[in-house]
Parts: sequence; structure tokens; C-alpha cells
Amino acid sequence: MKIIVIGKSGQLAWELSQFSSPEHEILCLGRNDINLQNIAAITHSLQLHKAAGVINAAAYTGVDKAESDVENAYALNAKAVGNLAQACKNLSVSFVHISTDFVFHGDKGAPYLPEDEIRPLGIYGASKAQGEQLITQVYPERSTIIRTSWVYSTHGNNFVKTMLNLMNTKPELGIISDQIGSPTYAKGLAAACIASLTHNITGIHHYTDTGVASWFDFAVAIQNMGYELGLLIKKTPIKPITTAQYPTPAKRPHYSVLDKSSLMLALPELSFVHWQTQLATMMHALKAEQS
Ligand SMILES: NC(=O)c1ccc[n+]([C@@H]2O[C@H](COP(=O)([O-])OP(=O)(O)OC[C@H]3O[C@@H](n4cnc5c(N)ncnc54)[C@H](OP(=O)(O)O)[C@@H]3O)[C@@H](O)[C@H]2O)c1
Repeated sequence: MKIIVIGKSGQLAWELSQFSSPEHEILCLGRNDINLQNIAAITHSLQLHKAAGVINAAAYTGVDKAESDVENAYALNAKAVGNLAQACKNLSVSFVHISTDFVFHGDKGAPYLPEDEIRPLGIYGASKAQGEQLITQVYPERSTIIRTSWVYSTHGNNFVKTMLNLMNTKPELGIISDQIGSPTYAKGLAAACIASLTHNITGIHHYTDTGVASWFDFAVAIQNMGYELGLLIKKTPIKPITTAQYPTPAKRPHYSVLDKSSLMLALPELSFVHWQTQLATMMHALKAEQS
């Protein structure tokens, strides 16, 4: 099966590129390879590459930057997504798209179900929500939307790598302890995307690693594992702080744990692993890449 991944250098796109096998030929198209603002150009490109399925790993992911760059955020997270859905429909190929926990407000106090009301707090979440709505209007019959959260990989920029860098350089750190979610290793997310595509799953589903954490919990785990593996040269005092003590341009949900049962039911062979185990796997991979 030839799978076209939209995105090349991003965390998920890169993890997907590692899944190329005799069963799945994977071709990643970066921003210079395909014009996502033009349906005819996308259709032509997918046809040219003989796509049997498409995974959209491209997104405007700058949550704070989106607040002042609204047009570009909507162009990539909404319009381009609708265009991709239409191009997939033109060619009758399956489409998997990734969305976010930031479509939710964060005041539910229990894990969010796929069908729960969406009420984004900022432009990033609102633009991603519009992307979801466009897919649902244009091509629900062969599309899957997978919402995820707190994604990291050995490749690209993310919280784990930022923390390791800060822990090696700063005398102390204050990390937010009143935002709760689930960290997700992009390698597992990539496997979920491939499985959803090959098993023709449709509708909206959630995939994250299991277990919950605050950013503070996550940072402490990164420090402990990083120090054990020799990725850190010292241990740095980390203190818990509140969201109010760390103001950002975009508001973020206080609680955005996603209920994964619908995907667990639809794909019983897919592994759902605790975030601490996945973090250890990623950090061993990081260590191996550095040595
Ligand atoms: N990161 C998170 O914590 C998180 C949380 C929840 C949901 N998600 C969702 O998960 C998916 C994957 O995220 P990620 O962390 O892998 O993102 P990422 O590392 O920030 O990568 C973003 C990707 O988008 C592409 N892109 C950016 N601007 C573009 C443009 N103007 N035109 C075309 N492509 C452009 C990049 O393309 P190039 O390859 O050409 O550079 C890159 O492949 C996204 O849908 C994101 O919304 C992420």
C-alpha cells in the first residue's frame, strides 16, 4: 500500500517515514513538494504518486504564535485540511488526519470522549476544530480524525528535548503543575495512524499514551530518566508553578485527558502503552542517536 504523508520534517511525519516496509511504501511530501492551498494541485500530486492512502501530519503547531498569525493558522489547519479531504474524495483514497486535545475547553474534569462538545480556548484549537468540521462535511465516508496530545519524538522540537536542554543549562526550573494531560510518543501515534488507514477506520477517535501527568510530573520524569541515562550532567531543582505564574498569549486547557476507548475497540491489536514506558523508550533512542 502506497501511503502519502503530508509533512516531512515534523515529529509525526518523520516517525511515519520510519514505517516504510515491503507492506507499506511511505512517501513524505514537505511544504515545497505540494501546494496544500489548491485542490487540483493536491489531486494531481496524489494521482502522480499513486496514493492508496493519505496521512496528514502537517499543521500550524505554534500555539502561541497562532494568536497573532490567525490567517496562516487557518490556512494550514482548516483550509488545507478541507482541500486534502476533497482531493482524497476525488480519488477515492482513505484519509487520516491528526487533531488535538486543544479543541476542548478543559473544564470537564473527566477524560474527553470523541463526541464531547468542542470549545477551543485559542486560535490553534479553533483552527484545528474547523479542519475537523471540514473533513466531516466533505469526506466522512473514508476519513479518520485522530486527536492526540503532548506529542514528542527524538526528532524535532518538543517538551522533552527543551527540558533536557534547560536542565543542563539553568540553575532551577519552574514548571506548570495545574495543566493535566497525557504525553504521547510520536512513534506510537505513527503506528496508530498506519493501523487506522489499513483497517479503514472512520470517524473521530482519540490516541495518546496511557496514564496522566501534569507538565511538572512530566518534567520530573524526564529529569530522573535523563540523569540515569547520562543525558543530563546534573540534577536541577524543579518547582511546581501555576498557569497564572506563567502567562502565555494562548490559553490552554487545564485538563485535556482524552478517552481512547473507541480506538481500543476498533483496533484491538494496537498497543496502548503508559507514558512513562514510552518516555523511557524515547530517551533510550535519543541516547543511542547521540552516541
Ligand atoms: N506537537 C504536539 O504536542 C501536538 C499535540 C496535539 C496534536 N498535535 C497534532 O499532531 C500533528 C503532528 O504534529 P507534530 O508535532 O508532528 O508537528 P511539527 O513537528 O510541528 O511538524 C509540523 C509539520 O507541518 C508542516 N508544515 C508546517 N508549516 C507548513 C506549511 N506552511 N505548509 C506545509 N506544511 C507545513 C511541516 O512541514 P515540513 O515537513 O515541510 O517542514 C511539518 O512536517 C499535527 O496535526 C498537530 O496539530 C500535535
